[in-house]
Amino acid sequence: MNSPTELCKIALHHGCLKSFLYKRYNKFIHCHHYTHKYHNLFKHMRNEKFNLLEIGIGNPHLSNFNHFYKMNTRKIGANLFMWRDYFKNAHIYGIDINNNNIIHNEKNIHCLQANQVDSKKINNYLINKSFNIIIDDGSSVPYHQIETFNNLIHKLNKGGFYIIENIYVGNHGTNPLNYIKKSIKTSDYHDIEFYFEPQGYTNSAMIIIRDTRN
Ligand SMILES: C[S@@+](CC[C@H](N)C(=O)[O-])C[C@H]1O[C@@H](n2cnc3c(N)ncnc32)[C@H](O)[C@@H]1O
Repeated sequence: MNSPTELCKIALHHGCLKSFLYKRYNKFIHCHHYTHKYHNLFKHMRNEKFNLLEIGIGNPHLSNFNHFYKMNTRKIGANLFMWRDYFKNAHIYGIDINNNNIIHNEKNIHCLQANQVDSKKINNYLINKSFNIIIDDGSSVPYHQIETFNNLIHKLNKGGFYIIENIYVGNHGTNPLNYIKKSIKTSDYHDIEFYFEPQGYTNSAMIIIRDTRN
């Protein structure tokens, strides 16, 4: 297995289940193998000044694995704190449907309570803002993932990344992936990669859309 990156370690510190390091403590835990991939994609951007948006903030108190979070200092918004530590000069935006997950008064962290398909509310909040990284880790409903992409892709800067996490692929097929790929409105300058987690993680994949313009 790959050796942990700095992002994997930061994720573990904050209690963000995007890191595969949790498997070292409990092989049954439902965590992802995303931070390794993310570090490889983003390490060149660590000192840059930009905006990052993640849909889905998360509240570990609602998780079945609450006991694992007790190892960590952060409770709510572990993902946002992870990104803030990793990208020291970035502004981190989070959107979540659940008002209990909204974080207030944290330097460089900004949150909005909204359903990810409420494009009116979201566009109003994000007016005049654009992003180098957008991650959809919200409801994981394919229809929502498509709607959200089609609403937010115009907010991605040149050279940026739009990532849809948690696309269920089951044991055999890749139909949801193909369905989403067919339904999102990409352009010629968008490069699309499917990333499948190594066996033993979840039955999910992510789509990484990169704007290839300089
Ligand atoms: C899997 S958790 C994400 C955790 C976080 N992204 C992380 O990496 O730790 C999914 C989050 O999406 C939120 N969510 C679910 N449906 C949503 C929707 N329709 N719009 C916005 N947020 C939603 C949930 O409240 C939950 O906090």
